[in-house]
Amino acid sequence: MSTLRHSEIAGVGHYVPSRVVTNADLTQLMETTEEWIQERTGIQERRWFEEGKDTTANMGAAASRKALEAAGLTPDDVQMIVFATLSPDYFFPGSGVLLQRELGIQAPIPAFDVRNQCSGFVYALSMADQFVRTGMYDTVLVVGSEIHSSGLDKTTRGRGVSVIFGDGAGAAVLRPSTREGHGILSTHLHAQGEFAEELIVKEPGSNREGRVDYAVANALDMYPYMNGQNVFKHAVVRFPQVIKEALDQNGYQPQDIDLLIPHQANLRITQFVQQKMGLSDDKVFSNIQRYGNTTAASVPIALSEALQEGRIQRGDLVCLAAFGSGFTWASALIKW
Ligand code: UT7
Repeated sequence: MSTLRHSEIAGVGHYVPSRVVTNADLTQLMETTEEWIQERTGIQERRWFEEGKDTTANMGAAASRKALEAAGLTPDDVQMIVFATLSPDYFFPGSGVLLQRELGIQAPIPAFDVRNQCSGFVYALSMADQFVRTGMYDTVLVVGSEIHSSGLDKTTRGRGVSVIFGDGAGAAVLRPSTREGHGILSTHLHAQGEFAEELIVKEPGSNREGRVDYAVANALDMYPYMNGQNVFKHAVVRFPQVIKEALDQNGYQPQDIDLLIPHQANLRITQFVQQKMGLSDDKVFSNIQRYGNTTAASVPIALSEALQEGRIQRGDLVCLAAFGSGFTWASALIKW
C-alpha cells in the first residue's frame, strides 16, 4: 500500500437549484409544522429542482465545471467519471455517461454510476482513489447529484420522509498528490444488506412479472419508504465507528481532526456523533439547515462550502463520513 501513490482532491464545486422551499412552504402541502421539522431535523429550507432547467446530470455538470476550474483543469483533462446518485435521469443508462455528454467530453473515457445512496459519494471517492493510486488514471471526476423532489410523496402520508430530502449536486477532482503524506490517506467502506428495506424505493423493481404495469398499480411503492427511527439508531453507531476506523488506521486520535464533514442526514445525528467523538463545534461542518438531506450530493456540497468559507487549510486533517440506505456507511481521511 505504502509503495502506491496517494491521490488528492485538486478541486471541489457545487450547484444547487435556485428554488428555495422553506418549512413554512411545506405546511401548505401537508400536515406538518415548522417547529416539528426544525426540532427533529435541524432543516430550515431545502432546494427543489426546476423542471425543464435542472437535471441530475446537468446539475452534476455545473458542479463539475466549478471543481475543474478550481483545480485549474478543463473537461478534456478528465480521464474517468464516477457518478453517485440514487435519482438517475434514466432507469438506464446511468447519469455518468450523460455527464460526459453535458461536459462535451469527446474522448471515449470510462464513465459509471455508483448506487450507494447517502454513502454514494464516499464510495465513489474511494473507487476513484483506487484508480489514481494504481496509476491507471491521473484525473478522475467524482460527482454526487440528486433530484429528490420529483419523487417525494408531498402529502401528509409522506411527511416523515419528504420534509427531509432536497436537491443539489457536488463534485471533486482527484489527481495524484505531489506532496508526501498528503491527500487521501485511506477510505473505509461497509454494507449490511439485511437492512435493505429499511430505507427504500421499491418500484419499479425488476423481479415483478410485467414490472411496468405492476409498478403503476402499486404506485405508492415508487415513493421512498424509511423506518426513520431504525435508520437513526444505526446511524449514530456506524458514524463514530467508521470515523474511528479511519483514525486508527492512520494513527490519529479524534482530537487530531480539524474538520469532520459528515453526510448531512439530520442535525440531531450530527450532534450526537460530535458529542460521542468529543469534537468542538468548530470541528464539525453542518449545512443541512439550508439544503436538507441531499444524499450522495451532501458530502461534496458540504466540502465545497467548507472550502469557500475558509474552514479547511493546507495540512488540515479532514474526515468525510456517511451512512444511509443499504445500510451502507463509509469514511475517508484526508490530509489536505
Ligand atoms: O440520510 C440517511 C438516512 N436518513 C436518516 O438518517 C434519517 C434518520 N431518521 C430521522 O432523522 C428521524 O427518524 C426522522 C426525522 C425521520 C423522524 O423523527 P422521529 O423523531 O424518529 O419521529 P417519528 O418517525 O418517530 O415520528 C414521531 C411522530 C409521529 O406521530 P405519532 O405517531 O407519534 O402521533 C409521526 O407521524 O411525528 C409524526 N411525524 C410528523 N409530524 C409532523 C412524522 N413526520 C412528521 C412531520 N411533521 N413532517
